[in-house]
Amino acid sequence: MLSYHPVFMPPVRIDVPTPSRAYAVTIEDGSLDRVGRLLDALKVPERRFVVSSPGVWRLHGARVARATRGVEPILVPDGERFKQLGTVMRIYDALVKVAADRSSTIVTFGGGVIGDMAGFAASTYLRGIALVHVPTTLLAQVDSAIGGKVGVNHPIGKNLIGSFYQPHGVIIDPSVLGTLPRREFRAGLYEVVKYGVTSSPGLFERVGRDMKAIFDRDPIALSAIISESCQIKASVVAADEKESGLRRILNFGHTAGHALEAVTKYKRFRHGEAVAYGMLVAAEIAARRTVMDEDSRQALVNLITRLGPLPPIADLSAARMLEAMQHDKKVVAGRLHFVLPTGIGGTAIVDDVTEKEIRAALLRQGFKK
Ligand SMILES: NC(=O)c1ccc[n+]([C@@H]2O[C@H](COP(=O)([O-])OP(=O)(O)OC[C@H]3O[C@@H](n4cnc5c(N)ncnc54)[C@H](O)[C@@H]3O)[C@@H](O)[C@H]2O)c1
Ligand SMILES: [Zn+2]
Repeated sequence: MLSYHPVFMPPVRIDVPTPSRAYAVTIEDGSLDRVGRLLDALKVPERRFVVSSPGVWRLHGARVARATRGVEPILVPDGERFKQLGTVMRIYDALVKVAADRSSTIVTFGGGVIGDMAGFAASTYLRGIALVHVPTTLLAQVDSAIGGKVGVNHPIGKNLIGSFYQPHGVIIDPSVLGTLPRREFRAGLYEVVKYGVTSSPGLFERVGRDMKAIFDRDPIALSAIISESCQIKASVVAADEKESGLRRILNFGHTAGHALEAVTKYKRFRHGEAVAYGMLVAAEIAARRTVMDEDSRQALVNLITRLGPLPPIADLSAARMLEAMQHDKKVVAGRLHFVLPTGIGGTAIVDDVTEKEIRAALLRQGFKK
């Protein structure tokens, strides 16, 4: 475990003015120790229920309990296989048991799985009660806690059940990432790289330049990449809350990425790792079309390579990947929408990528015939 040295840094506040709700994301090292007061400042209803997982609560629960005058958590298992209605039912059961009413607030305290499940519970219990996310993985801090997508998996497919439900606030304390296993941490970093490619050459370069400090969980380096990622996500979501246009750029890397997760039954890859491959495949297609220049593609390959090893793909066939892509939510009227990078910091959404092009890109990436 890495030690935690508080460093004074001013809190960062990012506004997320979506049509359905306007809220703020605050990023501040050590904010977990003041989470009670921060919830008061958000003026959310006073009966607060923290939903967390046993593992996260064991590591960081004492700080939350102290800061909230001894809140009792609702603990449910996390990990992708528990992201299902059965686990949400356990949250409802706990809420019903204590007669939680409309003057209640759900505070999610965990990674993306806890946030998505407890957020869905908040959106449906009594037709919706207040929700605040306190994300504890890098992926949840830079991505899933912002934007209002909540829900669970169906045995047939990922995230098939859910709704849009914006939180009343997002409280990010980068210091909790000190206990995050390196592989989980890296999985979140690939989403940061994604934001760099879609929207910010500066962020892309920063990940490469500050990589050591980032992996060392240096508070200043972490705060910088988290803030910029949240800023990008917030502005995209504010402009297109329900993903009818601009928000689709955030699916860069997710077409092949989701297919990869599906063909390996969500077991081999962390979501971010699959997205890393997905970005490489999309860049291959873009470079072949000369939509992206070769130098930019190489810069992406180099950065992903430097971040560390990815699980192998050589035993997975391009044919199975292509089949899985046909089931993607991004298929609209039979056409697959692909987000192609136009360089580092720009994208184009196209719907005319042929099967032949995708197969060629998959083979060049190392998938088997
Ligand atoms: N709602 C959205 O917009 C959105 C966006 C991206 C991803 N997601 C979803 O997020 C999920 C993935 O989230 P995730 O990567 O955070 O996975 P996760 O929630 O499963 O957490 C990963 C692991 O890290 C552990 N953990 C969490 N915080 C920790 C900490 N501080 N220290 C040590 N261990 C800690 C968890 O217990 C778990 O074992 C997927 O289900 C994905 O679909 C949602
Ligand atoms: Zn993602």
